[in-house]
Amino acid sequence: MQSNHWILIREARQEATVGKTVEVRGWVRTRRDSKAGFSFIELNDGSCFGNLQIVAPGELTNYADEIQKLSVGCSIVVEGQVQASPAKGQATELYATSVRVLGWCDGETYPLQKKRHSFEKLREWAHLRARTNTFGAVARVRNQICDSIHSFFQENAFYYTHTPIITASDCEGAGEMFRVTTLDLNRLAKSNREVNYELDFFDKPTFLTVSGQLEAETYATALGRVYTFGPTFRAENSNTSRHLAEFWMVEPEAAFFDLQDDMRLAEAFLKRIFTDCLQQCDEDMQFFEQRIQPGVLAQLTSVIERPFAHMTYTEAVEVLQNCDAKFDYPVAWGTDLQAEHERYLTEQHVDGPVILTDYPSTIKPFYMRVSDDGRTVAAMDVLVPGVGEIIGGSQREERLDVLQSRMAASGLDMSEYEWYVDLRRFGTVPHAGFGLGLERAVQYVTGMANIRDVIPFPRTPGNAEF
Ligand code: 4AD
Ligand code: MG
Repeated sequence: MQSNHWILIREARQEATVGKTVEVRGWVRTRRDSKAGFSFIELNDGSCFGNLQIVAPGELTNYADEIQKLSVGCSIVVEGQVQASPAKGQATELYATSVRVLGWCDGETYPLQKKRHSFEKLREWAHLRARTNTFGAVARVRNQICDSIHSFFQENAFYYTHTPIITASDCEGAGEMFRVTTLDLNRLAKSNREVNYELDFFDKPTFLTVSGQLEAETYATALGRVYTFGPTFRAENSNTSRHLAEFWMVEPEAAFFDLQDDMRLAEAFLKRIFTDCLQQCDEDMQFFEQRIQPGVLAQLTSVIERPFAHMTYTEAVEVLQNCDAKFDYPVAWGTDLQAEHERYLTEQHVDGPVILTDYPSTIKPFYMRVSDDGRTVAAMDVLVPGVGEIIGGSQREERLDVLQSRMAASGLDMSEYEWYVDLRRFGTVPHAGFGLGLERAVQYVTGMANIRDVIPFPRTPGNAEF
């Protein structure tokens, strides 16, 4: 749609545009008719949280026929002059010389009426929910976090590397993978025979990746510092507010990094993300503070200013065993910490982010470096209040013999991992990395309680709509 003076509402709301003749395009949020014979239209185009107030005078030729029939959701193009607004909370308003309707929106059938809907209800309308204040704000913050992720790593000499989505290896060794096949399952079910994967597309069993780490290690041991950032899949049957079957993970991997370097990187990385969100998404963050999680701004600000706390797994177990809190799951050295334990540590004990290190080798994957004590590995998890684990990472086992015995003990099909073991055969180096779940980062920054509300189209057990 050609126009010489189309601008975004983000710009039209700035005082600097007062006096300019402009065109704006967007969706009606509200219309209010004044007795004095004109109408106020609140217009939003998604470019920012705030709306632009349009003043539509009664003299416009389509005033009675169209403008007075505008309802929530109608799309319009408005031309006019930007003026300083006498109203509170907005620097400008647009005095319309023309209002053209692009698309009507039937108030009887449009689900997003002015009244507030629950987040549960809005999940059923995931194709429309981006038009609400909350989901618009979440989308912009999510975009900012992705921007910060790339900027941070690019500025620190990490190369963006693409790792495959279809894979034959199970990085986390947890067996929670979605199978990828072109075999006809119905025919197989009727045949009563064993599956012959040689007849499948890739001639062997393949899955959707649970992590790009193993492949990222191959590039880290050549380019030095890399990161992969893409969709990640886990077929774990957990219906929680922190788990998705399809989520986005960013995984840096760096040669010549040990666990200390890895933790420093993770802390600087998170602080960069939080700083950018506070600076670049001010209006959206004000909304989260007022309507979603009061205190979120002060929390992020204090996290940026203070060093992260550190504890070993062993220390954490002692704290949990000696505290007054009642847990559903008992705590014993050697068992995995549950969400309730992680949240106690970060919310009650530390009241801020905490990095837990040196977990028992028995509860962590084969690739983590075994420590001198023989029973722990150089692992680190970053826990934050409200969300729990946001980052998981480790120094990697670079010693050929130790890695091979760990892999054998994990019962891996070694033939699928020879390429990975090669990295230790040919010029092995110490190296480390971590994975940040993008959605958990968005949850932490926005205070959104449910992970299903920080990704446009959530996939969870039983749900793959849209
Ligand atoms: O701790 P995880 O399983 O670590 C790895 O996958 C390593 N290979 C990462 C690495 O070292 N390169 O997952 C990393 C992070 C978690 O801390 C969490 O934030 C997120 O990924 N995550 C999930 N987010 C949403 N839904 C799920 N089901 C998730 N599982 C993990
Ligand atoms: Mg983890």
